[in-house]
Amino acid sequence: MDPDNSKEAPTRGWHKILELGQLPEGRVRTVTVDRHSLAVSRYQGVYGALDNRCPHQGGPLGEGSIENGWLRCPWHGYDYNPTDGSPPEGFDDAPACYPVQVRDDGVYVELPAAQAPVPTVSDVMVETLVRWGVRAVFGMVGHSNLGFADALRRAEQRGDLRYFGIRHEGAASFAAAAYGKLTGELAACLAIAGPGSTNLMTGLYDAKMDRAPVLALCGQVPSSVRGRGAFQDVDLQGAFADVAAYNQTVSARSDHAELVNLACKTALVQRDVALLVLPDEVQVQPAPDSAVPGGPTGRLVRSEITPAADLLDAAAARIAAAARPLLVLGAGARFDVAEVVALAEHMGAPVATTFKAKGLISDRHPLGCGVLGRSGTPIASWFMNESDLIVAFGASFSNHTGIAAYKPIVQVDCDPMALGRFHPVDLPVLGHVGATARALAERLAGGASFVGHREEVAERWAIWRAEKASRLADDQGRGLNSAAVFDSLSRLCPSDAVIAVDVGNNAYSFGRYFETRAQSVLMSGYLGSIGFSFPAAMGAWAAVGDRRPIVSVSGDGGFGQYAMELTTAVKYKMDITHLLLNNAQLGKISKEQRAGRWDVWQTSLHNPDFAAYAELCGARGLRVDATDRLDDSIRTALAHPGPALVEIICDSDLV
Ligand code: FES
Repeated sequence: MDPDNSKEAPTRGWHKILELGQLPEGRVRTVTVDRHSLAVSRYQGVYGALDNRCPHQGGPLGEGSIENGWLRCPWHGYDYNPTDGSPPEGFDDAPACYPVQVRDDGVYVELPAAQAPVPTVSDVMVETLVRWGVRAVFGMVGHSNLGFADALRRAEQRGDLRYFGIRHEGAASFAAAAYGKLTGELAACLAIAGPGSTNLMTGLYDAKMDRAPVLALCGQVPSSVRGRGAFQDVDLQGAFADVAAYNQTVSARSDHAELVNLACKTALVQRDVALLVLPDEVQVQPAPDSAVPGGPTGRLVRSEITPAADLLDAAAARIAAAARPLLVLGAGARFDVAEVVALAEHMGAPVATTFKAKGLISDRHPLGCGVLGRSGTPIASWFMNESDLIVAFGASFSNHTGIAAYKPIVQVDCDPMALGRFHPVDLPVLGHVGATARALAERLAGGASFVGHREEVAERWAIWRAEKASRLADDQGRGLNSAAVFDSLSRLCPSDAVIAVDVGNNAYSFGRYFETRAQSVLMSGYLGSIGFSFPAAMGAWAAVGDRRPIVSVSGDGGFGQYAMELTTAVKYKMDITHLLLNNAQLGKISKEQRAGRWDVWQTSLHNPDFAAYAELCGARGLRVDATDRLDDSIRTALAHPGPALVEIICDSDLV
C-alpha cells in the first residue's frame, strides 16, 4: 500500500516562521509549517519552538500562556519550559523541541527529516471501499473521525472518490440514500461519535425502508474510555442495531479489509444499511505488513432469479385469461423497466406505477397511466377499477400504494419476504422482474390474443388533461395553484433530469400533475421523511450530475429542515434547480386537521424570503407570485450553472 502522502510531510531543514518583531514578548502562538504544528514562544527575548501537542492529552500549547517563565497548556495547566520544552522538577514528559535561529530577515526553525509515510488501517479500509465502487462520501469531518478522514482525503487526492462536506449529518445519509436509490450503487456517509452519528439515523432508515444500499462510517471515542461515560460516548452498535443489517465495531486486531468487504457486500446484496464504527485510535494505527485491501472480486454473483416453470405457466395462464389486465411497476422494477414495458406492449396492457415508481414508464408512452393511489392520476385509478387482473412487478403493496387488494393479483418480486407481505395475493411469483417479464413475454408470444387498450389510455389522458387545463386558471388571490406549477415544470424540465421530491402537498401535487417523459424520480417512499428532497438532489448530483440535470421539489416546511445545505451546493458548484412551493404552513397537515374536524393548530410557518436567502448563500434566487412569471423563472433557474432556487408563492387550498 502506498498512502502517497510523502509530498505532505515537512521538508528537512530551516523554515522561516516569523518576521522579526511579529511575536510580542511573553507570548506564544501556533505556527504551522507544512503539516507540522508548532508552539512558537518568545520569553525574555528568547524564541522557542515546541511541538504543539501537549504530551498529556494533546492540548494545543500554542494557545496557552506564559506565566512565571512556564508555558502553560490551556487544557489542564501542565507547564513546560517555553524554549526547551522541559517540565518542572518531578515531571518527566516533555514536548519535542526544535532548534530556532534569529536571522536578519526573521525567525527560523529547523525541522527534522520527513518520516517515511506509513499506511494506516484507514488507508486499507478506504482502498477497499474504493474497490467496492464507493465513489462518493458525504459527511462531516470532526474530532473522532480525523484519522479516517485523512485516508479519505488521500483517496480523493488520488482521484479515487469525492468527498462532500455537508452542514448536517442528516443530509449526508439522505444524500447517500438517494445515490443508492438512483444508481443501485454504494455511497457512504461519515460522522463523528455521539451526535454526528445519531444525526445519521433518519436518512439511514430512509435507505433501509426503500431498499437502497448505504454505508455509514462512524467515528468512536477511544477504546480506552469507551463505555465509561466519556465525552460523546454513545453505544453506536446498540443505537443502530435495528437500522443496520451489518453492524460492527472495528478493533485494533480486526481484519480491517475483511470487515469492509462484508459491510459493502451486505449493503449491496441486501440493499440495506451497513455500519462500521471506527474507534479513534484504531483509525491511525499502522496497517500490518500483511494487510491487503479487499474488494468484490470473487465475492459477488450476478444473480437473476427466473421463476420456477410451474409458476410461470400459472402466471401466463392467468394473464392470457384476463380481459383487462393492468401491469403495475413498483420501485423494485427500477432497473428492469424495459422488459416489463416490452411485455405490456406485447399485451397492449396499460401500465400504472406506484408513487415511488413514478416515471418508470413515461406518461407519454401510449400505455402509461401515471401513478396509482392518493398521489395518483384518475387514469391509473380508472384502469385499476376496471381491471380483472393486476400483475405487479417490484411493488411492495403498502397501505399508500393504491393497489386494490380485492383484485386478483399476480405479484412478481425477487424477495420472498416482499411477496404477499401486506396481504395475501393470488399468485406470488419469486423471480427478478426483468427475467420474469421476459419469460412471461416468451410464454405469451404465440398462444394468447390480447385486446389492446391504447385508445382507451389515450381517451383517459384526454379527459384528465382537459381537467388539469381547467384548473390552471384557479386563483383565489392567495398564490399560485399546483396544477399551474407542475404544468410549467412538465413542459420545461429536461426529459433526462433526475427529480427529488419531498413530502406533503407538494409531493401529492407532483404525483398527480407532473407528466414524466424520461425523468427519474426520487423520494423518501416508505419512511416519508420531510426534508428529503434537497439533500437527495445533492446525492443525485454526486452520482450523475455531470450527465443529467438535477431538480428538486419541496414545500417550505421540507426545505426549512436542511436549508443550510444550499451553501453546500454552492460550495461544490452543484447544478441543482430547486422548486420551493411556499404556502407558509405545513399545508398537508392543516388539511388533515380540517378533514379530521380538528382545529388547525401550529402548522403555520414563519419563513424568510427564500429567494433572497438563496442569493445570500451564493445561489441564484427567484421569487414567483404570479403565474405569468412561472415559465421564465423556471427556465432561468434551469439555465443557471449552479444551484438555483425558485420560490413559488402557493395557495394551500389549490393543490
Ligand atoms: Fe495539556 Fe492536559 S492536554 S495539560
